[in-house]
This record gives sequence, structure tokens and C-alpha cells, in this order.
Amino acid sequence: MKLPGLTDIHVHLREPGATHKEDFATGTAAALAGGVTTVLAMPNTQPPLVDRAAFERAKRVAEEKAYCDYGLYLGATLANAPAIQALAPQAAGLKLYLNATYGPLLLDDMSAWTTHLEHWPRSRPIVAHAEGKTVAALLFFAALYNRPVHICHVSRREEILLIKAAKEKGYPVTCEVTPHHLFLSTADIPALGAGRAEVRPRLASPEDVQALWKNLEVIDCFATDHAPHTLAEKDGENPPSGFPGLETALPLLLTAAHEGRLTVEDIVQRMHTNPRRIFGLPEQPETWVEVDVEDEYPVRASATHSKCRWTPFEGRRVRGRVARVVLRGREVYRAGRVLASPGFGKNIR
Ligand code: DOR
Ligand code: ZN
Ligand code: ZN
Repeated sequence: MKLPGLTDIHVHLREPGATHKEDFATGTAAALAGGVTTVLAMPNTQPPLVDRAAFERAKRVAEEKAYCDYGLYLGATLANAPAIQALAPQAAGLKLYLNATYGPLLLDDMSAWTTHLEHWPRSRPIVAHAEGKTVAALLFFAALYNRPVHICHVSRREEILLIKAAKEKGYPVTCEVTPHHLFLSTADIPALGAGRAEVRPRLASPEDVQALWKNLEVIDCFATDHAPHTLAEKDGENPPSGFPGLETALPLLLTAAHEGRLTVEDIVQRMHTNPRRIFGLPEQPETWVEVDVEDEYPVRASATHSKCRWTPFEGRRVRGRVARVVLRGREVYRAGRVLASPGFGKNIR
């Protein structure tokens, strides 16, 4: 089966600052292995991408190393709204961290939300890490300012129902859900182990998972929140939150399609059509993904391209394998091997 090149609007590639977890080369290689031809990379790096110097530096490294196309987000701080406005045309979008998670970025002062919503050009998306009541607060801001916002990794029943109600009222909101919040729940935590199960938003209850599936039509995008940490870190003293996801998303979703829980068209809409529309991404001509939908196999971290070498889905049987990826007319991935050269990936801005 042939699919269009997929877009993952939410990945953490860890460069600069934590390249023992991932870098632009390994992260974009993992993307191709997952059938993803465009990634939008989050700014919670070290240093975080919150000013021109850090942003330009990350852009240069990405340009040298990326195998697939990419965009870079800027991160919002309490004070940087006026300064980053000029960088907006080069950014994938602006990320607001409104609840605590991995990394130093947290906008816990609501007056800073206002400044960002006022300054950031409407031509570029604003995306937010918002959980629980914070979703309600942000939706109110979106309505007040009539400013589209995109809610990252919706994981709970109360959140998806609130977004559903907001959409019915015509609020300018879109949202994404991760595969791990669709295919894992609190019931999986004992088997995973507490450290490995750490993720923000946390794994939710089976009822929450059920509510996400029931409200599939409210979900605009599937995005992985690919957040690699090494096994030593996950199994260590202070396990950081995050799961890798680029290489398991499509096989998991194709398996669900095989089981009749959604259609392949639903996947394409949420990992190609909608992301490209919401983010205003350019077409990738002569780009497609060939999947073998009959191939059934257990997920193995040992077969992945990500540096982190583990997956919360280890051993899970999936059906559907990425066989070949063609990006802008070039065969860039075949039979488990990345064939592109570093730097083949282009900045989508
Ligand atoms: O679990 C998470 N890990 N959630 C986030 O929001 C950030 C991410 C990371 O960067 O590790
Ligand atoms: Zn987040
Ligand atoms: Zn994230």
C-alpha cells in the first residue's frame, strides 16, 4: 500500500544539549523508518530555542544533519514575546509550555500568555502543552483573542470533551493525540515499570483512552511526542518523562486499522492532510511511503534507528511495516536502511 509522506508535528530531537539521547541525524532517520517525511521539532533543548542565537545555531546543525524535512519551533518565555516576533517566518510555530514537563520552559504567569497571543503573527501556529484545567484556560484566551491555538497531546476524557464542545461553539482550536495515549493506559504501568512509564501527560485511565477513541472525529492530528531518553536514565534515580514514538506510530495505527478501529484514510488525514493544513506546510512532490500491510511482527527496540534503544511497546505484535520511503524523488529508506545522506532534509520554512 502506498501512503503520502507523513508529518509528525511534535518531536523532541534533543539537539543541541542532549545528543546522547538523540540528534538531528538519528531522530530524522527514525522518522523515515516510521514513514514520516516531515518532523516539527520542539524547542526544549539545551539551550532552549527561545532567542535568535540559539535558534540560528539549531537551524545550522539541522541543515547539516537532517535526513528528512523538518521545521523548528520557538519556545515562549516570560519576556521573549517582542524579540521572537521577527523570527516567526522561520519557525514551525510557537510552543507555550503551560504545565511543568521535561526541560526548563514553563509559562506559569498568565499575563505572559496574553503578550504572546498578541505578538505572535497569526500566520504561524501557536501550540501548547496544556493539561486539565489549563486547557480550559487556554481555550478561553483563544476565544477572547480569536486566535487559533493547537492543543498538544490530549490524553483525558475531560480534555477531549471540552475541545469537542469548544469546536461546536466555533472556537479556533485544533488538537493532537499521541499513539501512546491511544494504545497505553495506567493498566500498563506495572508491566512497564514506574520509571519507564513516566511521561507527560501521564498515561491515563482505560476510560480516558476509550473516550479518545470514541471522539476520533475531534482529533485533528496524531503526533508522537517522540521524547527519547536513554534506558539508563529511565531506569535510574530520577527517571525523566518521555517515550520514543517515531518508529512505532504507523505500525500501531495500521494495526488498529486492520482491527477496524479506524481507517487508513483516518490515519492519512491526521498525519498528512490536517497537519499540513494547520501548519501551512509546503507540498513534498514525488514523496510517498510504501507499507507492507500484511507483515506481522513484534516491535523490537533493537531494530530502531533512534539513539535511545528502547520502546514502551517492546514485544507488542503489530501488523504493517514501512518498506520503502521516497522523498522528493529520492529513495531515502528501504528495508530497514536509511539511504539519504545527512543534510538531504530541508527546512520547511
Ligand atoms: O513526557 C514528556 N517528555 N512530555 C513532554 O511534554 C516533554 C517530553 C520531553 O521533552 O522529554
Ligand atoms: Zn508536552
Ligand atoms: Zn513534547
